Amino acid sequence: MKIGILGSGNMGRSLGILWAEQGHQVFFGARTQEKGEAVAELAGHNTQGGTNDEAAAFGDVLLYTIRGVNSVQVVSSIEIFNGRILIDCNNFEIPEGFTYSPIEQSLAEKLATEVPNAHVVKAFNTFAQEVFELAPWTLDKKREFADFIREYKK
Ligand SMILES: NC(=O)c1ccc[n+]([C@@H]2O[C@H](COP(=O)([O-])OP(=O)(O)OC[C@H]3O[C@@H](n4cnc5c(N)ncnc54)[C@H](OP(=O)(O)O)[C@@H]3O)[C@@H](O)[C@H]2O)c1
Repeated sequence: MKIGILGSGNMGRSLGILWAEQGHQVFFGARTQEKGEAVAELAGHNTQGGTNDEAAAFGDVLLYTIRGVNSVQVVSSIEIFNGRILIDCNNFEIPEGFTYSPIEQSLAEKLATEVPNAHVVKAFNTFAQEVFELAPWTLDKKREFADFIREYKK
C-alpha cells in the first residue's frame, strides 16, 4: 500500500517506520523538503521524503499528524485529499489541571469538514508513540511472555 505521512514528528515517524518494515511504500511529508528527506533517510526501508504536498499526492492512505492547524494551510490545495483515506491520529492538547471543556466537535469531525472529499477515519490516537516503537519484535516477545505466564499458572 502507498502511505503518505503528513507531519513527520513522533507519530508520523514511528508509524511510518513500522509500516515500511511491513513492506508498505511510505513517503514522509514535512513542512520542508529537507526535513521530509532527512526522516526518510533515517527510516530506511526504501522510504521517501519531501513536502506534505508530495506525501499527500503519493499516498492512497494518508496519516494526518498535525494538530491545531487547518488542513488548508498544510497543503497547497485541499483537492489533493480528494478520494484519499485520511487517518487522523490527533488528540486535543491536555488543558491545565486536566479540566476539559465539553467537546462539541471532535478533531476528526473538524478535519472531515475541512476536507469533505476525503474519507476521514480516526485511529492510533489512544496509543503512545513509544508503543509503536516497540513493535513488532518486542510486542511479540511480550506476547510470548504472557503466554508463558498463562501456561505456568495452570
Ligand atoms: N506522541 C504520542 O505518543 C501520541 C499518541 C497518540 C496521539 N498523538 C497525537 O498525534 C498528534 C501528533 O503528535 P506527535 O507526538 O507526533 O507530535 P509532533 O512530534 O510534535 O509532530 C507533529 C507534527 O506536526 C507538524 N506541524 C506542526 N505545526 C505545523 C504547521 N503549522 N504546519 C504544518 N505542519 C505542522 C510538524 O511537522 P514537521 O514534520 O514539518 O516538523 C510535526 O512533525 C498530536 O495531536 C498528538 O496529540 C500523539
